[in-house]
Amino acid sequence: MNVSGKVALVTGAASGIGRTTAKMLAEEGLRGLVILDTDPVGLAKTADLVSGAEILIIQCDVTNDVSLADAYQQMTDHFSALDIVFNNAGIVSGPPPFPDTALARMKRVVDIDLTSVIQSSALAIRFMREHGGGVIINTASTGGLNPYLADAPYAAAKAGVIMFSRSCADLHAQCGIRVNAVCPGVTDTPILEKTGGGKRPDWLVPLLENIQALTPEDIGQAVINIIQDDDMAGEFVVLQNQQKQTGT
Ligand SMILES: NC(=O)c1ccc[n+]([C@@H]2O[C@H](COP(=O)([O-])OP(=O)(O)OC[C@H]3O[C@@H](n4cnc5c(N)ncnc54)[C@H](O)[C@@H]3O)[C@@H](O)[C@H]2O)c1
Repeated sequence: MNVSGKVALVTGAASGIGRTTAKMLAEEGLRGLVILDTDPVGLAKTADLVSGAEILIIQCDVTNDVSLADAYQQMTDHFSALDIVFNNAGIVSGPPPFPDTALARMKRVVDIDLTSVIQSSALAIRFMREHGGGVIINTASTGGLNPYLADAPYAAAKAGVIMFSRSCADLHAQCGIRVNAVCPGVTDTPILEKTGGGKRPDWLVPLLENIQALTPEDIGQAVINIIQDDDMAGEFVVLQNQQKQTGT
């Protein structure tokens, strides 16, 4: 799919990967861009950074069924189209590590990182199948491919996103909707501080001495590549961290 002239929704668009991807998609010539997040200040900043597309700002918690359904109604009423959905909003558990994570926090992680991805995808698919198809990209993580005890609920949720996206492969043949996942490795965004309760967590500091963190632009480009590849359906794209080069 050519991004130019299309309408896209980006969730988690007030920060990090979502903000940068929204900006990059607009630069590809979107007609309409819906940026959705719980954070109104961050959304306003994203809107300031974006140019080239008509922007609709929606403040919404993706775990609120009614608000999410309202958001879909609002954006499809406004643009009469929805071609691209990037389900990207996400959180990590933060301290203390599993199994001492508060039960409410574990449920919140699964709600935001997995359940809302499924719900948002279902709403998008119901619209897209009546309107000629579309592309959905769900943000998983390399954390969904490798065991990760410190945040096992996050790893489980992201593994769920990968399998959910794979399970939607047949929608391509059935109704022209391509659902795929993107699995970033460690990426330089504010979430890295959030994992440590306001500072980089102890386990991440030595890791970052050896690996090169990805940039939000790396993920944005992967999302654009998925949109442009008309054969990709039910797949997951892994973006691994490179080892840092050491001088000799
Ligand atoms: N940064 C990394 O190292 C990394 C690696 C792999 C995957 N990811 C995933 O990438 C996605 C984006 O993360 P990021 O690194 O840009 O983090 P971020 O914290 O910069 O951005 C996440 C955004 O999601 C929003 N959000 C959180 N809960 C929400 C809710 N209930 N409803 C609506 N919006 C909500 C936040 O307000 C924030 O703007 C997440 O799904 C994350 O799990 C990040």
